[in-house]
Amino acid sequence: MIAATADAAEPDSARQRELVRLVRQDCGSCHGMTLKGGLGLPLTAEALRDKPFDGLVATVVYGRPGTAMPPWKTMISENEAEWIVRQLMQGFPEEAR
Ligand code: HEC
Repeated sequence: MIAATADAAEPDSARQRELVRLVRQDCGSCHGMTLKGGLGLPLTAEALRDKPFDGLVATVVYGRPGTAMPPWKTMISENEAEWIVRQLMQGFPEEAR
C-alpha cells in the first residue's frame, strides 16, 4: 500500500469500506437503510443534487445544531466527510458482502 501523504484527498480502500459500512449502518439509522430518509432527510443523489457540496460536508463534520443531526468529527475527518458526500451525490455504494 502507498503511504498516505499529509493531505491525502481520498481515504484508502480499506477505510473506504469502513466508511461505506458506517454510513449504511450509523447514518442509515436516521436517514433510512436505503438512505431515502427517515428521521433524517434523504441522502440520495437526487435529493442532494442541487445542494452546496461544502455545506453538506460541514453538516457531516459539525452536525446541525438544534436538530437531531449529530457532529461526526471525532469519527470522520474532513477529507473523509468530503469523500462520503461525493459518494452520496453520485449514489452511495452498497456495502461489500
Ligand atoms: C440521530 C439521527 C441522525 C444520524 C445518526 C445522522 N443524521 Fe444526518 N441528519 C439528521 C437530521 C434530523 C437531519 C436534518 C437536519 C435539518 O433539519 O436540517 C440530517 C441532515 C443531514 C445532511 C444534510 C442533508 C440536506 O439535504 O441538507 C447530511 C448530508 C447528513 N445528515 C449526513 C449524515 C451522515 C453522512 C451521517 C452518518 C455519518 C448522518 N447524517 C447521521 C439526523 C441524523
